[in-house]
Amino acid sequence: MSAQIIDGKAFSASVRDKVATHVARLKDEHGLTPGLAVVLVGEDPASQVYVRNKGKQTIAVGMHSIEHKLAADTSEADLLALIDQLNQDPAIHGILVQLPLPDHLNEDLVINAIDPAKDVDGFHISNVGLLGTGQKPMVPCTPLGCLMMLRDHHGSLSGLDAVVIGRSNIVGKPMAQLLLGDSCTVTIAHSRTKDLADVVRRADIVVAAVGRAQMVPGDWIKPGATVIDVGINRISAPDKGEGKTRLVGDVDFASASAVAGAITPVPGGVGPMTIACLLANTVTACCRAHGLAEPEGLTA
Ligand code: GUN
Repeated sequence: MSAQIIDGKAFSASVRDKVATHVARLKDEHGLTPGLAVVLVGEDPASQVYVRNKGKQTIAVGMHSIEHKLAADTSEADLLALIDQLNQDPAIHGILVQLPLPDHLNEDLVINAIDPAKDVDGFHISNVGLLGTGQKPMVPCTPLGCLMMLRDHHGSLSGLDAVVIGRSNIVGKPMAQLLLGDSCTVTIAHSRTKDLADVVRRADIVVAAVGRAQMVPGDWIKPGATVIDVGINRISAPDKGEGKTRLVGDVDFASASAVAGAITPVPGGVGPMTIACLLANTVTACCRAHGLAEPEGLTA
């Protein structure tokens, strides 16, 4: 293996340290405590784990954390009323509605009911527009985490060829916008892209966010390229015993790490950065709400 491993666990710990330092300063100098509200509708087990982790990490950096757990059959009107109440609450600077929502709730309607200034997921249509026009958005957490790791590794990204594989609203599209903002030449590839292997081979930076286990092999990677693997896929692992599974990314780590200059592992790469960036966004939202300087290095 030749690639440098980009350690997302260590990097996310350094982001959380910066957040905690800034939270302490906001308390000491301004009497402010950033507050994050997480809303979970229903009992999806994976969502329950995410929400618990978010709550723990929010408290660990010294912020105010509240959770609203609503029944799976909560009406849209009741959910919108809760969002309105959180929008008005001066102790809450960030609101996150855990996705996916149950089928009877309109996700776009619910997300767009959040005050854009408190939309720490960066999913509100206003924040999407601000990001697309190079203004000051709340930036979606996973692409923000990828950008932080890329900037840390490369210093400047200016002029580099970047390929983003995947065109989701949550990762692919905002990732491409962020890379463009840092003056990369950006290609967005997806399931209909012709000659995907050749497109990827031209890239100095590859961000894989398609949700297909190990679909990017090492021989698609330009020697020395930086590979950011956003995928988290569970596959069967008979070598570990009957019925056992393991987590893998969208990139075939074994072959790609022999060619790449740097690569994020799965698990332990992009994954831990998402919650760290959620905390960073909550501090940013609190600073903006009070007209204070934003924390260095925690925004795009
Ligand atoms: N579900 C899985 N990941 C996320 C996320 O980043 N934000 C929200 N709101 N829901 C999610």
